[in-house]
Amino acid sequence: MKHEPLVLGIETSCDETGVGIVRGHTLLADAVASSVEEHARFGGVVPEVASRAHLEAMVPTIERACDTAGIALHDVDAIAVTSGPGLAGALLVGVAAAKALALGLGKPIYGVNHLAAHVAVDQLEHGPLPEPCLAMLVSGGHSSLLRVTDVTVGVDPMGATIDDAAGEAFDKVARLLGLPFPGGPHIDRVARDGDSVAIDFPRGLSSRRDLERHRFDFSFSGLKTAVARWVEARERSGEPVPVNDVAASFQEAVCDVLVRKALDAASSEGIEDLLIGGGVAANSRLRAMAEERAARLGIRVRVPRPGLCTDNGAMVAALGAEMVARGRTPSSLDLPADSSLPVTTVLV
Ligand code: KG4
Ligand code: ZN
Repeated sequence: MKHEPLVLGIETSCDETGVGIVRGHTLLADAVASSVEEHARFGGVVPEVASRAHLEAMVPTIERACDTAGIALHDVDAIAVTSGPGLAGALLVGVAAAKALALGLGKPIYGVNHLAAHVAVDQLEHGPLPEPCLAMLVSGGHSSLLRVTDVTVGVDPMGATIDDAAGEAFDKVARLLGLPFPGGPHIDRVARDGDSVAIDFPRGLSSRRDLERHRFDFSFSGLKTAVARWVEARERSGEPVPVNDVAASFQEAVCDVLVRKALDAASSEGIEDLLIGGGVAANSRLRAMAEERAARLGIRVRVPRPGLCTDNGAMVAALGAEMVARGRTPSSLDLPADSSLPVTTVLV
């Protein structure tokens, strides 16, 4: 291909309807319609509500992306779509829309893995990915450490959470502290006025015994319970709950394990580049701590800007453009929406 591929990407794995358009590594449009407010009163994403919202938002979001990019649909070279993992009904809406576009326009379609897309998106901001690199993806739905040798084919899991995802822990603890959903940004904000060493909350899977079996895995449910117990004890004694200190100490515990394990994974593989993605990568303490500790080990840290860390269509388009650029064979038109797509399957 003489020119860089123009790719439209569709993302509907959770509660964001994302349509992104890229030309090679250049971002042209990133339209996102979120149904997060419709889920707020339930304290978590309701799958049926998300699917319905995707259906309503899909066409307007595609139109908005094309307007912003200044292109017509028939200009695109390929369509990319998140095939999985994610909520089954939500994925189906995006996959069906992508198939309709590909068929109607007579363009190739690439069904891609959501996690690999979280990695590929960084190219839009920081240029070609260093390969190999170590990717830490932390969001409401996933917490994984991945060794990336080629983002279009070689993404290997080194570790993952064995219970709650990191963002889920932020959301649950925020709820406990009476902060709105999604809680991550609120914890981040109130923690700025808190003392991060006020309370010594547990670091999951960090004891010598746990490290033998779970060196690169995470666990956040014990931490969440520890925060709940601490707050309950405080309330029982009739003393006020120091929300800022609890938030700061909780955040410190999460970031400490995330950064420690990510750097350990990178060092153990001799990898010099750490990429952090997913909604929790927007956390200010996580970014600062990762940069500070990585610098001591000679490891470089790349974190896309917050808007590209949370779910969006540009990340899917970015991975699709990489598939085209590296000559990968497109998916067939009967590609599935696979809610439990393994991370090792980058292209379906
Ligand atoms: O990637 P994302 O938009 O959606 C998926 O879950 O896939 O991530 C959302 C998660 C939520 O749990 C939210 O609380 C968390 O990312 N989050 C944060 C921050 N901003 C968003 N967590 C901690 N600190 C933040 N600043
Ligand atoms: Zn995600």
